[in-house]
Amino acid sequence: MKTLKVTFACLFLAAAICPAAEDPSPEHVKWMKALGAQMGAIRKGADVTKNATDMGETMKAVAAFWDARHSEAATKASKSVIDGAAAIAKAGDDKEAVTVGMKMMGGGCKGCHDPHREKISDTESKIK
Ligand code: HEC
Repeated sequence: MKTLKVTFACLFLAAAICPAAEDPSPEHVKWMKALGAQMGAIRKGADVTKNATDMGETMKAVAAFWDARHSEAATKASKSVIDGAAAIAKAGDDKEAVTVGMKMMGGGCKGCHDPHREKISDTESKIK
């Protein structure tokens, strides 16, 4: 009986500390679509310096948005994307440096998507 009570308490607590997913603002979706397109372009080697610089700019807005939400994971992930973008922006023709920067960025995208992105379909995600 005691175990049952504890189980119920935990279920209740989990619901209380895990707020439901929310719709992202149109701006947030726009930033993300831009990041996705720019990352794809860098992978293909297209306008690498410019795309990396643009990603750094976009990420400033993303980081500010997430700073206000006080998520350690989001702050850390944003920094990783920003640092990676900066490394790529100054890598020039150094392919190895671009690869290192891409790894940093990729880790940052994932570092925020894992805890905060909830995919509800192939074309739509929410913030959690
Ligand atoms: C600090 C958090 C955070 C970081 C960093 C982040 N994302 Fe996101 N991303 C999200 C969240 C939350 C969603 C779901 C809500 C939305 O779509 O806006 C999302 C959604 C997306 C989507 C789907 C957008 C749509 O609805 O069509 C793409 C594409 C995307 N991110 C690309 C990236 C790429 C590429 C990076 C790294 C260069 C990145 N994101 C970094 C939080 C982040």
